[in-house]
Amino acid sequence: MATYLVTGGAGFIGSNFVLYMLRRHADARIVNLDALTYAGNLENLASVEGDTRYAFVHADIRDQAAVSAVLAEYDPDYVINFAAESHVDRSIENPGVFADTNVMGTVNLLNCCRAAWDDGEGGFGAHRYLQVGTDEVYGTLAIPEALNPDGSPADPAHTEYFREDTPLSPHSPYSASKTSADLFVKAYHDTYGFPAVITRCSNNYGPYQFPEKLIPLMINNAVHHKALPVYGDGLNVRDWLYVDDHCKAIDMVAREGRLGEVYNVGGHNERANIYIVKTIIAEVARATGDPEVSEALITYVQDRAGHDRRYGMAPDKIREELGWYPETPYEEGIVKTIRWYLDNPAWVANVTSGAYQDYYDRMYAGK
Ligand code: NAD
Ligand code: TYD
Repeated sequence: MATYLVTGGAGFIGSNFVLYMLRRHADARIVNLDALTYAGNLENLASVEGDTRYAFVHADIRDQAAVSAVLAEYDPDYVINFAAESHVDRSIENPGVFADTNVMGTVNLLNCCRAAWDDGEGGFGAHRYLQVGTDEVYGTLAIPEALNPDGSPADPAHTEYFREDTPLSPHSPYSASKTSADLFVKAYHDTYGFPAVITRCSNNYGPYQFPEKLIPLMINNAVHHKALPVYGDGLNVRDWLYVDDHCKAIDMVAREGRLGEVYNVGGHNERANIYIVKTIIAEVARATGDPEVSEALITYVQDRAGHDRRYGMAPDKIREELGWYPETPYEEGIVKTIRWYLDNPAWVANVTSGAYQDYYDRMYAGK
């Protein structure tokens, strides 16, 4: 029976990962350590609360005593670090907390694992640490000249993508903090032989994503006939991956990835933002039959500062070395995701009550 310490397991991807692992591996034991910031929601995990293979610990990855106590109590085989501040717009507003959590939190976690796993002979036993990273560390790509109507490259064979050896060039405080964290993980591997591996994934979508990110925000606004705020010209491109496919990649890399290596994760699903927004409008209108859900809700607003133009991943290494491939085509995943939000209005109402409204007013008022 393998034990996984999952940090940030009450957030979007972390909670999907906990559910995925308990579904896929009858013998997995999961300990979820989460500080429960605005982005952490234990409701996501209500279905596994009574599962004896699952435990929750309310703690902060920056807290040395708390993290060390959890490592001592559960002796996890794997530590998977999802815990982070994850929203670019918030990082522009308040960069300090991104440095604290994403950089110093990761360094603390590394220190605690290193101390707990040290076998006294320069080794760390069979323990493994996985850092969940992002494609945003590579910066931005140019939009190719020839595009399909959805904004994806018309000629992929002659298009530039992020590869694992693409130079790191972050632009937002969020991506700068994630880059620093990756570099600390690499330094601990290179300096101490610490058993770490890094994944870098493109934009995820799916159930339980907080409605500050593009897809759930647009679904929620469309349902409530609120303006759909598209930044700039709406032609920025992201490479979208259904969250379960990311969970599958993390599961594989944690167990089989080569230590000290980076694995890019992405599904060659590039779409322009405006295309995503129009798909959401069409599907919400179709599913609800509501004539007020229409493209008239689209509102172009002031662009995000330092807005990266295009992300596009080359996931060749993880496919060739580990046999990973994405199972959910975008057209299927987006419909499933929209259905989930329409079927779970109580979840959405809970996370968008109170502080969310203040956030929304502050973030979008000047735009
Ligand atoms: P999220 O914001 O939904 O969740 C973050 C979780 O971390 C929350 O449960 C929060 O309570 C917890 N957390 C925050 N600070 C903490 C701290 N100091 N100690 C313990 N827990 C803390 O984020 P997400 O979208 O699920 O992203 C998870 C990870 O995946 C992040 O590291 C992010 O950088 C990375 N990532 C996200 C995407 C994406 O598209 N969402 C893509 C690639 C990589
Ligand atoms: P987001 O979901 O914040 O992810 P990231 O910036 O980490 O890629 O944004 C995805 C894209 O959507 C990005 O190009 C910014 C754009 N966007 C909007 O146009 N309007 C919005 O209200 C939001 C939140 C994002």
